[in-house]
Amino acid sequence: MRILDEGGPASDDVVLQHVAVPDDRPRDRAFTRLNMISSADGGSTVAGVSGGLGNRGDHAVFGALRAVADAVVVGMSTVVAEQYGPTPETGPDLYVVSGTPDITGDRRLFESGRATIVLPHGADAPPGDVPVLRAGHGPYVDLAALMGALAGRVVLCEGGPSLAGAMVSEGLIDEFFLTLAPRVVAGGSGRVVHGNNADPAPWELHHGFVDDEGFLFLRYCRRAAGTA
Ligand SMILES: NC(=O)c1ccc[n+]([C@@H]2O[C@H](COP(=O)([O-])OP(=O)(O)OC[C@H]3O[C@@H](n4cnc5c(N)ncnc54)[C@H](OP(=O)(O)O)[C@@H]3O)[C@@H](O)[C@H]2O)c1
Repeated sequence: MRILDEGGPASDDVVLQHVAVPDDRPRDRAFTRLNMISSADGGSTVAGVSGGLGNRGDHAVFGALRAVADAVVVGMSTVVAEQYGPTPETGPDLYVVSGTPDITGDRRLFESGRATIVLPHGADAPPGDVPVLRAGHGPYVDLAALMGALAGRVVLCEGGPSLAGAMVSEGLIDEFFLTLAPRVVAGGSGRVVHGNNADPAPWELHHGFVDDEGFLFLRYCRRAAGTA
């Protein structure tokens, strides 16, 4: 057992180690990492966005995870709530999952041509030249098919909680990066991952660190089936 107390600032070296991509990863599907921040009482937002929970270290981890990712996958509600902008030309490709081609919540992003909207085959086409990827023949995007389409790539799922819940319950998340913020926000914000039940088997704590502001940075890996 180790007792944790506040450490130093999250150095570049520690952050790089934290997000290092393992060599051993699947090639027939995407290697998928989920990154979320939670308050100590499990809240996912302050005033409707996650920004009120974070700090410098969390921003560093967010940026470092993006820097080693080939693609970012995110739900439409997060894109709208957080007013996502395009990723830089050298950055990961951005995929926004939605059931409908409504881009009005963040026109600037979609009209940039730098974000792909992911829709089920039956949904109408998005307006203009918005790039689109189709996955799934029902009313929803088939997330397993999406991850299959991104096979061989390092994918970062940035939530929100509904998309994260669907991904976890379908067994599509390999690693879970959780920042635990030393804040107790109460209110009505949902948990960082919610939706259908997921396999309750324990995940492995790969490692964690704590910064000088008492933020905990945890990296969990899904245990291979059949291991304790
Ligand atoms: N604490 C954190 O780390 C964190 C991270 C991210 C976001 N957030 C916060 O979480 C909130 C948003 O999260 P949320 O859970 O409400 O929404 P979300 O997961 O971001 O997005 C949900 C939307 O994504 C689309 N979607 C998800 N799965 C789909 C599927 N299989 N097929 C088709 N469409 C699918 C649907 O879009 P349509 O409705 O367009 O069909 C659905 O309404 C915001 O307040 C944001 O600030 C917090």
